[in-house]
Amino acid sequence: MIEWLDVGPDLRVLEIGAGTGYNAALLAVLGCRVTSVDVSPAVVMEARASLARLAADGVDTSLGTVVHGDGYEGWPDDAPYDRVVVTCAVNGLAPSWTHQLAPRGSILVPIRHGGLSPLILVTSGAADADTAEVAGPTDMDTDTANAAGPGDTATGSTVRGRGLASAGFLPAAGPLGWQDPSSVPPFVRATAVPVTRHRLLPAALSPNALADLCFAAACLDERVTRVHIVGAPQEWGGCGVFDPDTAAAALFTHNDVILAGNPVALDVATALIGRWERLGRPKVTDWTCRFGLAGPPDAPILLAVDWACTAPS
Ligand SMILES: C[S@@+](CC[C@H](N)C(=O)[O-])C[C@H]1O[C@@H](n2cnc3c(N)ncnc32)[C@H](O)[C@@H]1O
Repeated sequence: MIEWLDVGPDLRVLEIGAGTGYNAALLAVLGCRVTSVDVSPAVVMEARASLARLAADGVDTSLGTVVHGDGYEGWPDDAPYDRVVVTCAVNGLAPSWTHQLAPRGSILVPIRHGGLSPLILVTSGAADADTAEVAGPTDMDTDTANAAGPGDTATGSTVRGRGLASAGFLPAAGPLGWQDPSSVPPFVRATAVPVTRHRLLPAALSPNALADLCFAAACLDERVTRVHIVGAPQEWGGCGVFDPDTAAAALFTHNDVILAGNPVALDVATALIGRWERLGRPKVTDWTCRFGLAGPPDAPILLAVDWACTAPS
């Protein structure tokens, strides 16, 4: 993540989720002025103690500060930031992060997507002209997604996201974890006897290709989430399709699709694999998004919307 942040001396960095303080210490040693926010007072005390121990051992962590607060608010006192790095899984961006971002700054953030939390690189339109160009509504073809689409994109209109890598993080507390009550839950459990397995691709997918498929499927269909299939004698978990009407689930694996329940979930999974194939098996990094305002009026978040594939198909 630090390599992707592309940091150097004197950059101002806001970290959301101090945890052990390790990431803040590394950034401080690299010469960044880091403000690391954590929602847990106990975690803040431990992270501060870790930085102090390092300092006592001769490691210069003087550029790192750990503060207590909800990362949803950012930390206005030290803004503007050249980089925001988020180290807990969020459902969307806090508006404060974009407000506290310096011109041409960027945000590296794991955003819930298909029940997982891949890393998304967020830039302002001006800082990522390529993305702005390809994400325009007039460029969208029939395989462009319109996932999770609360209408008002005004607040996030100059901000763009691009998929970076598959990843997993602990969920954020507070407004950053806001979930649209009408959407498919981020984690579902499906039980069925028998569970059936369906080979839909001629050859097994590599771990990276499976991650690419799952990312694309979540861009293309809101019913893609993290599913856990409870079968006998085995259980399986990962990214898949959940059909809320029938409670059926179809899990993507390297070799096949595992179906629990009504075949409608398998039909959706089959169609998604077909669309991914027709798009030329785009990678995580081939997808861009805009951001749309959602959530309660007193604590809105910016959800990733309008995923568009930029790969030549
Ligand atoms: C995986 S840890 C962070 C790891 C850390 N960057 C490190 O270097 O060790 C996730 C942290 O996010 C914090 N967290 C969760 N929700 C938060 C929020 N809304 N605001 C700030 N911190 C939050 C948790 O308390 C936890 O310490």
